[in-house]
Amino acid sequence: MYKVALNFADGKTLFCAVPPNGILLDAALKCGIKIPLDCREGVCATCQGRCESGSYTQDYVDEEALSEQDLAERKVLSCQTRVLSDAAFYFDFDSTLCSNEGTTEVTSTVAEVTQVSDSTAIIRVTIAADQPDLNFLPGQYARLKVPGTDHSRSYSFACAPGNRSLEFLVRLLPSGVMTDYVRERCKVGDTIKMEAPLGAFYLRHIDRPVVMVAGGTGLSAFLGMLDQLAEKGGSGYPIHLFYGVRTERDLCELERIEAYKAKISAFEFTPVLSDAGKQWQGLTGFIPAHLSQYETADTPFDIYMCGPPPMVESIKHWHTHNALTSARIFFEKFTESNS
Ligand code: FES
Repeated sequence: MYKVALNFADGKTLFCAVPPNGILLDAALKCGIKIPLDCREGVCATCQGRCESGSYTQDYVDEEALSEQDLAERKVLSCQTRVLSDAAFYFDFDSTLCSNEGTTEVTSTVAEVTQVSDSTAIIRVTIAADQPDLNFLPGQYARLKVPGTDHSRSYSFACAPGNRSLEFLVRLLPSGVMTDYVRERCKVGDTIKMEAPLGAFYLRHIDRPVVMVAGGTGLSAFLGMLDQLAEKGGSGYPIHLFYGVRTERDLCELERIEAYKAKISAFEFTPVLSDAGKQWQGLTGFIPAHLSQYETADTPFDIYMCGPPPMVESIKHWHTHNALTSARIFFEKFTESNS
Protein backbone atom coordinates (compact mmCIF):
# COMPACT_ATOMS: atom_id res chain seq x y z
CA MET A 1 0.00 0.00 0.00
CA TYR A 2 1.17 3.54 -0.74
CA LYS A 3 0.62 6.34 1.72
CA VAL A 4 -1.09 9.28 0.06
CA ALA A 5 -1.61 12.72 1.59
CA LEU A 6 -4.54 14.78 0.37
CA ASN A 7 -4.02 18.49 1.03
CA PHE A 8 -6.93 20.92 0.92
CA ALA A 9 -7.40 24.66 0.52
CA ASP A 10 -8.27 25.10 4.20
CA GLY A 11 -4.82 23.78 5.16
CA LYS A 12 -6.09 20.39 6.34
CA THR A 13 -4.39 17.16 5.28
CA LEU A 14 -6.18 13.83 5.15
CA PHE A 15 -4.44 10.52 4.52
CA CYS A 16 -5.43 7.38 2.70
CA ALA A 17 -3.79 4.13 1.70
CA VAL A 18 -3.80 3.31 -2.01
CA PRO A 19 -2.85 -0.09 -3.43
CA PRO A 20 -0.13 -0.07 -6.12
CA ASN A 21 -1.71 1.04 -9.39
CA GLY A 22 -4.96 1.74 -7.49
CA ILE A 23 -7.33 4.55 -8.44
CA LEU A 24 -6.94 7.58 -6.18
CA LEU A 25 -10.66 8.42 -6.00
CA ASP A 26 -11.67 4.86 -5.11
CA ALA A 27 -9.09 4.68 -2.35
CA ALA A 28 -10.13 8.06 -0.93
CA LEU A 29 -13.79 7.07 -0.89
CA LYS A 30 -12.89 3.81 0.83
CA CYS A 31 -11.23 5.88 3.56
CA GLY A 32 -14.38 8.01 3.92
CA ILE A 33 -12.90 11.01 2.09
CA LYS A 34 -15.70 12.04 -0.25
CA ILE A 35 -13.89 13.91 -3.01
CA PRO A 36 -16.61 15.64 -5.08
CA LEU A 37 -17.28 13.61 -8.22
CA ASP A 38 -19.79 13.29 -10.99
CA CYS A 39 -19.07 11.32 -14.18
CA ARG A 40 -16.23 9.05 -12.96
CA GLU A 41 -15.22 8.84 -16.61
CA GLY A 42 -12.59 11.57 -16.91
CA VAL A 43 -14.94 14.05 -18.55
CA CYS A 44 -16.48 16.46 -16.04
CA ALA A 45 -13.30 17.48 -14.15
CA THR A 46 -15.24 17.71 -10.89
CA CYS A 47 -12.73 15.44 -9.13
CA GLN A 48 -9.65 17.34 -10.25
CA GLY A 49 -6.60 17.95 -8.10
CA ARG A 50 -2.89 18.44 -8.59
CA CYS A 51 -0.07 16.04 -7.80
CA GLU A 52 2.45 17.74 -5.54
CA SER A 53 4.80 14.79 -5.20
CA GLY A 54 5.01 11.17 -6.22
CA SER A 55 4.31 9.18 -9.38
CA TYR A 56 1.05 8.49 -11.13
CA THR A 57 -0.52 7.72 -14.48
CA GLN A 58 -3.96 8.66 -15.73
CA ASP A 59 -6.29 6.38 -17.69
CA TYR A 60 -8.59 8.65 -19.72
CA VAL A 61 -8.52 12.45 -19.56
CA ASP A 62 -10.94 14.29 -21.80
CA GLU A 63 -9.29 17.27 -23.50
CA GLU A 64 -12.07 19.55 -22.27
CA ALA A 65 -11.52 18.40 -18.69
CA LEU A 66 -7.78 19.12 -18.52
CA SER A 67 -5.78 21.06 -21.10
CA GLU A 68 -2.19 20.34 -22.15
CA GLN A 69 -1.13 23.13 -19.85
CA ASP A 70 -3.09 21.57 -16.95
CA LEU A 71 -1.40 18.23 -17.57
CA ALA A 72 2.01 19.93 -17.66
CA GLU A 73 1.17 21.43 -14.26
CA ARG A 74 0.51 17.88 -12.99
CA LYS A 75 -3.22 18.43 -12.64
CA VAL A 76 -5.09 15.16 -12.36
CA LEU A 77 -8.58 13.72 -12.44
CA SER A 78 -8.67 11.60 -9.33
CA CYS A 79 -11.17 9.15 -10.86
CA GLN A 80 -8.60 8.38 -13.56
CA THR A 81 -5.40 8.62 -11.52
CA ARG A 82 -3.45 5.47 -10.73
CA VAL A 83 -1.02 5.90 -7.89
CA LEU A 84 2.47 4.48 -8.45
CA SER A 85 4.30 5.60 -5.28
CA ASP A 86 3.80 7.38 -1.98
CA ALA A 87 2.35 10.72 -3.06
CA ALA A 88 0.72 14.02 -2.13
CA PHE A 89 -2.17 15.65 -3.99
CA TYR A 90 -3.67 19.10 -3.56
CA PHE A 91 -7.36 19.90 -3.97
CA ASP A 92 -8.44 23.51 -4.38
CA PHE A 93 -11.44 23.33 -2.08
CA ASP A 94 -11.97 22.98 1.64
CA SER A 95 -11.71 19.56 3.26
CA THR A 96 -15.20 20.05 4.70
CA LEU A 97 -16.57 19.43 1.19
CA CYS A 98 -15.32 15.85 1.55
CA SER A 99 -17.00 15.23 4.88
CA ASN A 100 -20.48 16.47 4.04
CA GLU A 101 -23.23 13.91 4.04
CA GLY A 102 -22.56 13.61 0.32
CA THR A 103 -24.76 13.50 -2.69
CA THR A 104 -28.34 12.41 -2.11
CA GLU A 105 -31.31 11.77 -4.33
CA VAL A 106 -34.16 14.21 -3.85
CA THR A 107 -37.63 14.21 -5.33
CA SER A 108 -39.16 17.54 -6.35
CA THR A 109 -42.17 18.85 -8.23
CA VAL A 110 -42.20 21.48 -10.94
CA ALA A 111 -43.65 24.77 -9.65
CA GLU A 112 -42.99 26.94 -12.71
CA VAL A 113 -41.19 26.91 -16.03
CA THR A 114 -40.59 30.12 -17.95
CA GLN A 115 -38.69 30.92 -21.11
CA VAL A 116 -36.65 34.00 -20.19
CA SER A 117 -34.62 34.53 -23.37
CA ASP A 118 -34.28 33.03 -26.84
CA SER A 119 -31.89 30.44 -25.47
CA THR A 120 -32.81 30.11 -21.80
CA ALA A 121 -35.62 28.82 -19.60
CA ILE A 122 -35.88 28.91 -15.83
CA ILE A 123 -37.30 25.88 -14.15
CA ARG A 124 -38.44 26.20 -10.55
CA VAL A 125 -39.08 23.12 -8.46
CA THR A 126 -40.20 22.51 -4.89
CA ILE A 127 -38.67 19.74 -2.79
CA ALA A 128 -41.41 17.19 -2.07
CA ALA A 129 -42.91 17.39 1.44
CA ASP A 130 -41.63 13.96 2.51
CA GLN A 131 -38.04 14.77 1.49
CA PRO A 132 -35.31 16.19 3.75
CA ASP A 133 -33.86 19.65 3.24
CA LEU A 134 -31.11 19.89 0.64
CA ASN A 135 -27.77 21.38 1.60
CA PHE A 136 -25.55 22.83 -1.08
CA LEU A 137 -23.10 25.64 -1.65
CA PRO A 138 -24.00 28.31 -4.23
CA GLY A 139 -22.02 27.38 -7.34
CA GLN A 140 -22.61 23.65 -6.96
CA TYR A 141 -24.99 21.82 -9.23
CA ALA A 142 -27.64 19.10 -9.38
CA ARG A 143 -28.13 16.32 -11.87
CA LEU A 144 -31.80 16.34 -12.90
CA LYS A 145 -33.43 13.23 -14.28
CA VAL A 146 -35.42 14.31 -17.33
CA PRO A 147 -39.02 13.07 -16.86
CA GLY A 148 -40.10 10.37 -19.28
CA THR A 149 -36.51 9.51 -20.24
CA ASP A 150 -33.52 7.60 -18.86
CA HIS A 151 -31.33 10.68 -19.26
CA SER A 152 -30.02 13.18 -16.76
CA ARG A 153 -28.63 16.65 -17.24
CA SER A 154 -26.62 18.82 -14.86
CA TYR A 155 -27.61 22.35 -13.83
CA SER A 156 -26.09 24.82 -11.39
CA PHE A 157 -28.40 26.06 -8.65
CA ALA A 158 -29.62 29.55 -9.57
CA CYS A 159 -30.69 30.23 -5.99
CA ALA A 160 -29.21 30.46 -2.52
CA PRO A 161 -29.56 27.44 -0.25
CA GLY A 162 -31.89 27.48 2.72
CA ASN A 163 -35.34 26.99 1.35
CA ARG A 164 -37.29 24.24 -0.34
CA SER A 165 -37.77 26.06 -3.60
CA LEU A 166 -34.95 25.56 -6.11
CA GLU A 167 -34.32 27.05 -9.51
CA PHE A 168 -32.12 26.32 -12.47
CA LEU A 169 -31.31 28.04 -15.76
CA VAL A 170 -31.75 25.63 -18.66
CA ARG A 171 -30.06 26.30 -21.98
CA LEU A 172 -32.49 25.75 -24.83
CA LEU A 173 -30.91 23.98 -27.79
CA PRO A 174 -32.49 23.42 -31.21
CA SER A 175 -33.28 20.03 -29.75
CA GLY A 176 -32.08 18.05 -26.78
CA VAL A 177 -33.35 15.80 -24.06
CA MET A 178 -34.07 18.55 -21.53
CA THR A 179 -34.88 21.14 -24.18
CA ASP A 180 -37.59 18.92 -25.68
CA TYR A 181 -39.02 18.22 -22.24
CA VAL A 182 -39.11 21.91 -21.30
CA ARG A 183 -40.61 23.02 -24.62
CA GLU A 184 -43.08 20.21 -25.19
CA ARG A 185 -44.07 18.36 -22.05
CA CYS A 186 -43.09 20.18 -18.87
CA LYS A 187 -46.03 21.13 -16.68
CA VAL A 188 -46.57 22.27 -13.12
CA GLY A 189 -46.77 19.29 -10.79
CA ASP A 190 -44.39 17.03 -12.77
CA THR A 191 -42.05 15.01 -10.60
CA ILE A 192 -38.34 15.58 -11.14
CA LYS A 193 -35.75 13.51 -9.32
CA MET A 194 -32.31 14.92 -8.83
CA GLU A 195 -28.94 14.02 -7.37
CA ALA A 196 -27.31 16.83 -5.46
CA PRO A 197 -25.16 18.51 -4.44
CA LEU A 198 -22.42 17.95 -7.00
CA GLY A 199 -19.25 19.80 -7.90
CA ALA A 200 -16.46 21.67 -6.16
CA PHE A 201 -17.19 25.11 -7.62
CA TYR A 202 -18.42 27.36 -4.85
CA LEU A 203 -17.84 30.84 -3.50
CA ARG A 204 -14.90 30.86 -1.10
CA HIS A 205 -14.63 33.21 1.85
CA ILE A 206 -14.26 36.64 0.27
CA ASP A 207 -11.19 38.54 1.41
CA ARG A 208 -10.34 40.38 -1.83
CA PRO A 209 -12.20 41.75 -4.89
CA VAL A 210 -14.04 39.14 -6.94
CA VAL A 211 -14.44 38.97 -10.72
CA MET A 212 -17.22 36.65 -11.87
CA VAL A 213 -17.30 35.54 -15.50
CA ALA A 214 -20.47 33.85 -16.73
CA GLY A 215 -20.88 32.34 -20.19
CA GLY A 216 -24.48 31.71 -21.24
CA THR A 217 -26.36 29.66 -18.66
CA GLY A 218 -23.17 29.62 -16.58
CA LEU A 219 -24.92 32.66 -15.12
CA SER A 220 -26.95 30.22 -13.05
CA ALA A 221 -24.13 29.51 -10.60
CA PHE A 222 -23.54 33.22 -10.07
CA LEU A 223 -27.21 33.97 -9.44
CA GLY A 224 -26.97 31.51 -6.56
CA MET A 225 -23.83 33.16 -5.22
CA LEU A 226 -25.21 36.68 -5.67
CA ASP A 227 -28.53 35.81 -4.03
CA GLN A 228 -26.58 34.66 -1.01
CA LEU A 229 -24.38 37.77 -1.02
CA ALA A 230 -27.50 39.94 -1.34
CA GLU A 231 -28.93 38.34 1.80
CA LYS A 232 -25.77 39.44 3.64
CA GLY A 233 -25.60 42.90 2.04
CA GLY A 234 -22.34 42.10 0.26
CA SER A 235 -18.86 41.13 1.35
CA GLY A 236 -17.12 44.45 1.85
CA TYR A 237 -15.14 43.86 -1.38
CA PRO A 238 -16.00 44.83 -4.96
CA ILE A 239 -17.82 42.16 -6.96
CA HIS A 240 -17.79 42.51 -10.76
CA LEU A 241 -19.98 40.22 -12.85
CA PHE A 242 -19.22 39.82 -16.57
CA TYR A 243 -21.97 38.03 -18.49
CA GLY A 244 -21.19 36.88 -22.03
CA VAL A 245 -23.82 35.68 -24.49
CA ARG A 246 -24.17 35.74 -28.26
CA THR A 247 -26.96 38.26 -28.91
CA GLU A 248 -29.10 40.65 -26.90
CA ARG A 249 -31.96 38.18 -27.14
CA ASP A 250 -29.89 35.65 -25.20
CA LEU A 251 -29.56 37.89 -22.13
CA CYS A 252 -31.79 36.99 -19.20
CA GLU A 253 -32.45 37.91 -15.57
CA LEU A 254 -31.24 41.48 -16.17
CA GLU A 255 -33.69 43.02 -13.70
CA ARG A 256 -32.62 40.59 -11.04
CA ILE A 257 -28.96 41.38 -11.70
CA GLU A 258 -29.60 45.14 -11.69
CA ALA A 259 -31.37 44.75 -8.34
CA TYR A 260 -28.18 43.35 -6.81
CA LYS A 261 -26.70 46.83 -7.11
CA ALA A 262 -28.99 48.00 -4.30
CA LYS A 263 -28.31 44.94 -2.15
CA ILE A 264 -24.63 44.13 -2.66
CA SER A 265 -22.09 46.82 -1.87
CA ALA A 266 -19.73 47.73 -4.74
CA PHE A 267 -21.45 45.43 -7.22
CA GLU A 268 -20.74 46.06 -10.90
CA PHE A 269 -22.31 44.34 -13.91
CA THR A 270 -20.96 44.17 -17.46
CA PRO A 271 -22.79 42.25 -20.19
CA VAL A 272 -20.77 41.40 -23.31
CA LEU A 273 -22.25 40.27 -26.64
CA SER A 274 -20.22 38.29 -29.16
CA ASP A 275 -22.69 38.91 -32.00
CA ALA A 276 -24.33 42.24 -31.16
CA GLY A 277 -27.00 43.94 -33.25
CA LYS A 278 -26.76 47.60 -34.32
CA GLN A 279 -28.86 48.82 -31.37
CA TRP A 280 -26.53 47.41 -28.76
CA GLN A 281 -24.59 50.10 -26.91
CA GLY A 282 -22.64 47.89 -24.54
CA LEU A 283 -19.45 45.88 -24.90
CA THR A 284 -18.95 43.43 -27.73
CA GLY A 285 -16.62 40.57 -28.57
CA PHE A 286 -15.27 38.21 -25.96
CA ILE A 287 -14.80 38.84 -22.27
CA PRO A 288 -10.97 38.62 -22.01
CA ALA A 289 -10.73 41.71 -24.24
CA HIS A 290 -12.58 43.68 -21.55
CA LEU A 291 -10.54 42.69 -18.54
CA SER A 292 -7.73 45.19 -19.04
CA GLN A 293 -8.51 47.03 -15.79
CA TYR A 294 -7.54 43.81 -13.99
CA GLU A 295 -4.26 43.38 -15.84
CA THR A 296 -2.74 46.21 -13.85
CA ALA A 297 -4.70 45.84 -10.62
CA ASP A 298 -2.45 46.49 -7.66
CA THR A 299 -4.48 44.38 -5.25
CA PRO A 300 -4.92 40.61 -5.61
CA PHE A 301 -8.35 39.42 -6.69
CA ASP A 302 -10.21 36.17 -7.30
CA ILE A 303 -11.73 35.11 -10.62
CA TYR A 304 -14.67 32.74 -10.78
CA MET A 305 -15.75 31.38 -14.17
CA CYS A 306 -18.67 29.24 -15.18
CA GLY A 307 -19.44 28.51 -18.80
CA PRO A 308 -18.44 26.53 -21.86
CA PRO A 309 -14.86 25.16 -22.04
CA PRO A 310 -13.60 27.64 -24.71
CA MET A 311 -14.65 30.58 -22.53
CA VAL A 312 -12.99 29.14 -19.43
CA GLU A 313 -9.83 28.33 -21.39
CA SER A 314 -9.69 31.83 -22.86
CA ILE A 315 -9.79 33.41 -19.39
CA LYS A 316 -7.20 30.97 -18.10
CA HIS A 317 -5.01 31.92 -21.07
CA TRP A 318 -5.54 35.63 -20.28
CA HIS A 319 -4.57 34.94 -16.67
CA THR A 320 -1.37 33.10 -17.67
CA HIS A 321 -0.48 35.55 -20.44
CA ASN A 322 -0.64 38.48 -18.04
CA ALA A 323 1.25 36.57 -15.33
CA LEU A 324 -1.46 37.34 -12.78
CA THR A 325 0.02 34.95 -10.29
CA SER A 326 -1.64 36.59 -7.29
CA ALA A 327 -5.12 36.23 -8.85
CA ARG A 328 -6.71 32.95 -7.81
CA ILE A 329 -8.96 31.26 -10.32
CA PHE A 330 -11.90 28.93 -9.74
CA PHE A 331 -14.05 27.53 -12.50
CA GLU A 332 -16.76 25.18 -13.63
CA LYS A 333 -16.84 24.11 -17.28
CA PHE A 334 -19.91 22.63 -18.82
CA THR A 335 -20.33 20.95 -22.17
CA GLU A 336 -23.16 20.95 -24.67
CA SER A 337 -24.41 17.63 -23.35
CA ASN A 338 -24.98 19.25 -19.97
CA SER A 339 -27.53 21.61 -21.49
S1 FES B 1 -15.68 12.50 -11.69
FE1 FES B 1 -15.80 13.40 -13.67
S2 FES B 1 -13.73 13.56 -14.26
FE2 FES B 1 -13.64 12.47 -12.38
